[in-house]
Amino acid sequence: MTEQSPNGTVAYDIADGVAWVRFNRPDKRNCMSPTLNREMDAVLAALQFRDDVGVLVLGGEGTAWSAGMDLKEYFRETSAKGLGATRQAQAEAYGWWRRLRWYQKPTIAMVNGWCFGGGYGPLFACDLAFAAEDAQFGLSEINWGILPGGGATKVARELLPFRKAMYHALMGENVDGRTAAEWGLVNEAVPLDRLKARVAEVAAVLLKKNPVALKATKDAVRRVGEMTYDNAEDFLIRAQEAADSFDSEGRKEGMRQFIDEKSYKPGLGAYDLSKQKA
Ligand code: ACO
Repeated sequence: MTEQSPNGTVAYDIADGVAWVRFNRPDKRNCMSPTLNREMDAVLAALQFRDDVGVLVLGGEGTAWSAGMDLKEYFRETSAKGLGATRQAQAEAYGWWRRLRWYQKPTIAMVNGWCFGGGYGPLFACDLAFAAEDAQFGLSEINWGILPGGGATKVARELLPFRKAMYHALMGENVDGRTAAEWGLVNEAVPLDRLKARVAEVAAVLLKKNPVALKATKDAVRRVGEMTYDNAEDFLIRAQEAADSFDSEGRKEGMRQFIDEKSYKPGLGAYDLSKQKA
């Protein structure tokens, strides 16, 4: 059954271990207003530790994933109220993207259509991203006279080679889902009518992995990007030891099923989690 946030800016369903969360302002191309930002943060917080949610997918209702920040409600109306209101609106937007970057469960952006500007914040915050081949991605900020803020410039530098990031930010031209996949903005592009099925397939694989190891791994991939090799080596030892404090049996069970039981091969798939729980 579809649930909605109080003002309806976010909709979600939970099915088979997956939370299918959606930007839900299709008439406004899912642009992010302060209300949407507040409601998305609340929905993400409420879903984060639920036992029936193992993977979270972020999609968009209608023809857009998200047309970026709401130029009227997020920029014009907020700045009319003064600096305090601007900072508050920024904190609310950046806050839910940060929550999503370090989310307890693996997250997948399912980009069905338009993805502009501020939309790059949640795009990068999701661990994986799949797009419709015809989805459109753009840093359109330059087209209306600002720099790509709210982390968007950083996202371009993180995900794209320098020349592509610079061209993308300066030119204000859109790329489609296929090009976004070639560039590394998303993992894959598939026809729109296959997008949900492909994302469901990926989510199903993730649901079979040890959840403590998934959280440790996704955080490690983000953290090591800024570290020297030596720091990363040391961090990864500590991160695994910290993960062991949440689940010290998982790795033992994984080894047992391979070495003793010979019931699976780690090179070919995950161990049977249900036996660990039993
Ligand atoms: N902010 C405020 N309103 C928006 C936004 C936005 N970012 N995007 C769409 N809307 C509104 C439109 O004003 C329109 O409202 P109305 O029905 O009350 O007139 C409604 O959504 C539908 O938009 P259309 O432009 O009619 O939809 P269309 O499908 O023709 O075009 C497109 C879609 C290309 C996404 C277009 O709406 C657009 O260019 N939007 C702005 C994209 C953008 O540059 N976003 C800002 C990025 S920069 C940043 O996020 C910091």
